[in-house]
Amino acid sequence: MAATGEPILEVRDLVKHFPLTQGILLRKQIGAIKAVDGVSFDLRRGETLGIVGESGCGKSTLAKLLMALERPTSGSVKIKGLEIADARGGELKRARRNIQMVMQDPYTSLNPRMTVGDIVGEPYEIHQEVAPKGDRRRKVQDLLEVVGLNPDHINRYPHQFSGGQRQRIGIARGLALQPEIIVCDEPVSALDVSIQAQVINLLERLQKEFGLAYIFIAHDLSVVRHISDRVGVMYLGKVVELGRDTEIYDRPAHPYTQALLSAVPVPDPEGRERRERIILQGDPPSPANPPSGCRFRTRCWKAQDICAQQEPLLQIRPGTAHASACHFAETHDVVHA
Ligand SMILES: Nc1ncnc2c1ncn2[C@@H]1O[C@H](COP(=O)(O)OP(=O)(O)OP(=O)(O)O)[C@@H](O)[C@H]1O
Ligand SMILES: [Mg+2]
Repeated sequence: MAATGEPILEVRDLVKHFPLTQGILLRKQIGAIKAVDGVSFDLRRGETLGIVGESGCGKSTLAKLLMALERPTSGSVKIKGLEIADARGGELKRARRNIQMVMQDPYTSLNPRMTVGDIVGEPYEIHQEVAPKGDRRRKVQDLLEVVGLNPDHINRYPHQFSGGQRQRIGIARGLALQPEIIVCDEPVSALDVSIQAQVINLLERLQKEFGLAYIFIAHDLSVVRHISDRVGVMYLGKVVELGRDTEIYDRPAHPYTQALLSAVPVPDPEGRERRERIILQGDPPSPANPPSGCRFRTRCWKAQDICAQQEPLLQIRPGTAHASACHFAETHDVVHA
């Protein structure tokens, strides 16, 4: 969907360091886990920004910072111009209403002792102004219908639904307060591949219907490809490349993105792999002790001395909105099958 107008979400230099402590009594701080370490981007109304990166690179921490579920160490998150860290009372409540989350695992994120009606309607307990008590049942039934569930199943329990249906329940709950932004943290990773496309199609339909903006988090570039207008690639707490979907997939500039893409080889009609395969060596280093300079250098085949000495900035390629953080960035045309 085409994104328009002012950014609805503005993130600047966002940092979250978790203290690493030692000792039970004194809990002396001996370091920090740099889970999110200077992330900036905008999200526009109706837009989908995919966020991709390996396990532990800080995606869920970023999601929690956006939702104001974690306090940032430093940096700024503005929702429609309002700095959420400074907001209080009614202002904070309204800002929170406007950004909702769909969780990764529909098996563990829904309370097994609550009925579907209570789960989907729970946000109304805090935000009574959105749905007075007498209206709630009807509102919840409408929501169930919107996400493709039978509204007559309002009194059933989560275990009576399949994985895909449970994720629809999570989505209905996310829609209850009519937010403008939904943060989807790996919403399909726990589902069978055959169900994933259905849930993604539902999210796309809802986006058009309600003009929603999405942050769509995944491990894998192939999952976000279809749904994203822009994609941000994260590595050890930083965004290393950010651009429109076509720029990222057809002309990846950062070696890490190139490696992620080449890990998904696309066969041509003769069944040959068209992409040069780049196999990443080893695991990412610990976010408690990231490499000096460029964090990717320890796994990068292009690394030179400068990469250990100087941190590359996220720089925009002239004439585009495509940014990457590499001393040796070059765009790299990918031949698709
Ligand atoms: N509450 C916390 N206290 C201490 N460390 C944390 C906390 N939450 C996350 N971390 C650490 O921060 C880093 C980033 O974690 P995060 O969950 O954000 O990664 P992720 O990209 O979502 O990973 P995954 O793909 O596995 O979900 C990890 O090293 C993790 O162990
Ligand atoms: Mg996560």
